[in-house]
Amino acid sequence: MMPLVAPEHGHRYSYRTHVWVTAAIAGMAGMLFGYDTGMISGAQLFIEQDFHVSASGIGLVVSAVTFGALVGALLSGWLTSRVSRRGIVKLSAVVFIVGAVLAAVAPSVGVLIVARLVIGLAIGFSSTVVPLYIAEIVPVRSRGSMVALFQLAITAGILLAYLVNAVFAHSGEWRAVFALATVPALMLLVGMLLVPMSPRWLVMRGSVDEARTVLDEVRDPDDPATEEELQQIVAAVEEDRRRPRQSLAQALTSPLARTILMVGIGLGIFQQITGINTIIYYAPTILKEAGFGTSSATLTTAGIGTLNFLATVVALMVVDRVGRRTILLAGMSGMALTMAVLSITFAIDDFSGAGRWVAVASLFGFITCFAISWGWGFWVLAAEIYPLFIRGQAISIGNTIQWGANFLISLLFPILLASWGGAPVFGMLALFGVAALVFTYRLVPETSGKALEQIEAEWRRRAGVTDADPPLPAPPAPLASA
Ligand code: BGC
Repeated sequence: MMPLVAPEHGHRYSYRTHVWVTAAIAGMAGMLFGYDTGMISGAQLFIEQDFHVSASGIGLVVSAVTFGALVGALLSGWLTSRVSRRGIVKLSAVVFIVGAVLAAVAPSVGVLIVARLVIGLAIGFSSTVVPLYIAEIVPVRSRGSMVALFQLAITAGILLAYLVNAVFAHSGEWRAVFALATVPALMLLVGMLLVPMSPRWLVMRGSVDEARTVLDEVRDPDDPATEEELQQIVAAVEEDRRRPRQSLAQALTSPLARTILMVGIGLGIFQQITGINTIIYYAPTILKEAGFGTSSATLTTAGIGTLNFLATVVALMVVDRVGRRTILLAGMSGMALTMAVLSITFAIDDFSGAGRWVAVASLFGFITCFAISWGWGFWVLAAEIYPLFIRGQAISIGNTIQWGANFLISLLFPILLASWGGAPVFGMLALFGVAALVFTYRLVPETSGKALEQIEAEWRRRAGVTDADPPLPAPPAPLASA
């Protein structure tokens, strides 16, 4: 019998909406990430006045979040094999709320630093698990854009923070800026109570029926591809079980696991050391070095926040249409080039005339190139490249090192800028960009349009078969009642 058009459309609408709602709610975590990292650039001025803190004290207030995130990302590795992805995101929402409230009422700078560490912890949890959760719950064809939503949420959070900073700039109410972060944190908590668990997590826990129920909710239940996807997940989990249990250290004795982890770690390091957060955290400082006054530097920073957000919107539209490798290579070429131009401008210009506009154009160019490529690219690939047997822990290691690189760059940049000057510092960042290009060209695989299990199978093929990495078994017969 011919299916009726209307109910079919109605149905389709509802499960598509479900996937979007899932991703949008999880994206709230990205918003908190962006807000909490972006807000400090404005709030630090008033914190300095209220608590009479030294420059190094402010440095601690700023970097406490990245350090907390590093610890959070590390702990998530341990948590992902014990708690559901959804459970960890809920936990991070609660930790966000605790951190924001503590910061808003902090009676001393010491308490404020602790509060920032707590907020960082929540960012570390959520930035590790949210992309993983989204990648595991959405269909292959939209996985890239869905995980990239996380990046969009980060940039929206940064932009919101810059705007809130501007609104509170006159009153200096930095406590309110912190307190406002509780709103999206509460929304995240409530939202996570409504969304389903990751089907891959459910299969890993042996609940295949529940996984099918979730897939039927978030996919077209009448499409045979939905059952196929479940079978692929079951096959990957069974394959994982057949392997002798091993710790991550043991898993890393396998050349395959080492190569994949190296690629993940490299992506995180290169996303950071090529300079993004020298701009996100320190744009006003760079612009003042290039001869701008404080207010035009702040205004231009708001422009950078807006551009970062808008370019990410554009990226989101093309993510699943262009190959990941191509876009990473193109974006990094632009990033290295704009950093090189910035370096040359600092070397040959005294910023009395057009040079300062070349500097602004370089910063804007860099942000655009980053936003369309490595901004979302790191999070998407980190959620895609790891085989199931190391996925949770490997994402956690990759993210911990990414946060470590973020921490180091944000700590060292102002010191190096003051002692070396702009030309060598930006020149060094441009060279890191060239290294990132070579790395991407040689090692990063194309993952676009492939199921997570297929990516895993391709890694195995690429590495060749070794004792430590047995060949993939023949596809299993469908589970009768599972
Ligand atoms: C990076 C952050 C950065 C942000 C800027 C993210 O992908 O991980 O370190 O601040 O993009 O948009």
